[in-house]
Amino acid sequence: MKTGWYKDAVFYQIYPRSFCDSNGDGVGDIRGIISKLDYLKDLGVNAVWLSPVYKTPNDDNGYDISDYRDINPEFGTLDDWKEMIAGMHERGIKLVMDLVVNHTSDEHAWFQESKKSKDNPYRDYYIWRKGRGKDGKRPPNNWSSRFVGPAWDYDETTGEWYLHLFSKKQPDLNWDNPKVRQEVIDICNYWFELGVDGFRCDVITYISKVAGLPNGKWNPVMCGDEHFVLGPNIHEYLNQVNQNAWSKYDTMIVGEAIGCKYVDAPSIIAESRNELDSAITFELMEVDMWMNFFPLKLNLPKFKAVQRGWQNLPKECWNTLYYENHDQPRSITRYGNGYGIYRKELGKMLAVSYFMLRGTPYVYEGQEIGMTNIALKQEEYVDIMATRIFTIIGKVAPFLMPIAHWAMSKRARDHARTPMQWEDKTGAGFTTGKPWMKINRNLGEINVKNDLANPNSILNFYKKLIAFRKGNEVIRDGEFIEYFEKHRKIYCYERNLNGHRYIVICNFAEKNVSLNVDKIPNAQDAELIIHNWEGQQQKLGVSIRLRPYEAVVYEIK
Ligand code: GLC
Ligand code: CA
Repeated sequence: MKTGWYKDAVFYQIYPRSFCDSNGDGVGDIRGIISKLDYLKDLGVNAVWLSPVYKTPNDDNGYDISDYRDINPEFGTLDDWKEMIAGMHERGIKLVMDLVVNHTSDEHAWFQESKKSKDNPYRDYYIWRKGRGKDGKRPPNNWSSRFVGPAWDYDETTGEWYLHLFSKKQPDLNWDNPKVRQEVIDICNYWFELGVDGFRCDVITYISKVAGLPNGKWNPVMCGDEHFVLGPNIHEYLNQVNQNAWSKYDTMIVGEAIGCKYVDAPSIIAESRNELDSAITFELMEVDMWMNFFPLKLNLPKFKAVQRGWQNLPKECWNTLYYENHDQPRSITRYGNGYGIYRKELGKMLAVSYFMLRGTPYVYEGQEIGMTNIALKQEEYVDIMATRIFTIIGKVAPFLMPIAHWAMSKRARDHARTPMQWEDKTGAGFTTGKPWMKINRNLGEINVKNDLANPNSILNFYKKLIAFRKGNEVIRDGEFIEYFEKHRKIYCYERNLNGHRYIVICNFAEKNVSLNVDKIPNAQDAELIIHNWEGQQQKLGVSIRLRPYEAVVYEIK
């Protein structure tokens, strides 16, 4: 049944709340997405990953689902959704939905039942335990929530604790219960019947917990990882869902693989395993971040080493390529000086640096116009991660507040979630009402309308790159060879399929860099085919001078 269509796809990720608001209530919605389908088609993408649109109390903006088979009324109706998917398919765009099944919302009917009594038929849908200590008033173990604080909450009704690796409104499902696995299978098949082309599986690496739930090694924010990241039964469970749902249609299943390093990846994504088709790695995101929250300076050799590890996976593994999503700061601010005079060159260079790699590239909404991080005051942050960090630090270590502010100004998830900048006008063309989140002040300069009109824009560069990749076998299947591995400013690699070669050189520095390229074998006559600066030499030759954030691709046929 599977054709592997995703190997030729370029994805666009939509965070529906922030994409386009059709009815002026300040919240993006499905009819807003429908109104932008021609935009997506024109951009050239042929697949969309849509962040959750299901019923939700919005504790974590839809990553807390209270009904897996219906649409969040703020976003529209199931009929709107049907019109949306039909519109995508008409335009040759596949739809991959978010599947959030490590946990549900605490307002999901299963949890409402589960907490009623210890012998409720839904009790074992979740992970309940007695507390520690004489009176049971200490959490069952020391695991921490990814949103800071203990991963357990006490429930008065039955006097037991339930596990939540995210917020307390996101109780973890008990995957050891075969009924839970069957529910997941049924949910997938429900959406496949409605035409969905695949799923992005939220924190899928966390679903299997070590029996007995032992204490984790001490860690202030990520305690317990070793007992649930790629846990003992994960392969069996994924295999089961794969056999009974994912492989029955022509799908793509990509797992958000927190904690999965490239050395672990084959066990979960190699084709012969029949588990996932690909993994969204976090390893790359961790290069310039410590303990999930603290920004570090980008170390390019480390960054390249992680990419190399994934690029060199066995042939039967397929990569997911991305720099941005709804959880990460804007790449143009993160990996360079996104506010500087070379913003456009930087945006284009970053695009080249990952679009030429092996795997399926994802573009996150706004990335294609070079949207940047936003400057927020403490009270303007709305995401649960930042607000919890401020609350907890404020309580336990107020003297650390300036550090928390600094860290969030670079790393908060809010940066990715500001409304999409369509036009230079009040509401940014995103809404006619009051936006649910602050719009970036730079909308005058950075917006889709400007970029569409300007042939040299980041957006038009993306269009060219997307078109260039389409059906390009060298990019899809070619070997990956790297040069200047230790260079601190230059990312240089080759893709090679039977002698048809692309030499990619990207300058990650905001200054000129000269490079002797004579050690790249037989490449002196290579012809320039992609560039983000005017006036670069037509042939690669033996040395090249790269300007700030310059990116070039040379071809040898
Ligand atoms: C994933 C999502 C993130 C969410 C978390 C819990 O990491 O990408 O947005 O908060 O899972 O569902
Ligand atoms: Ca709306």
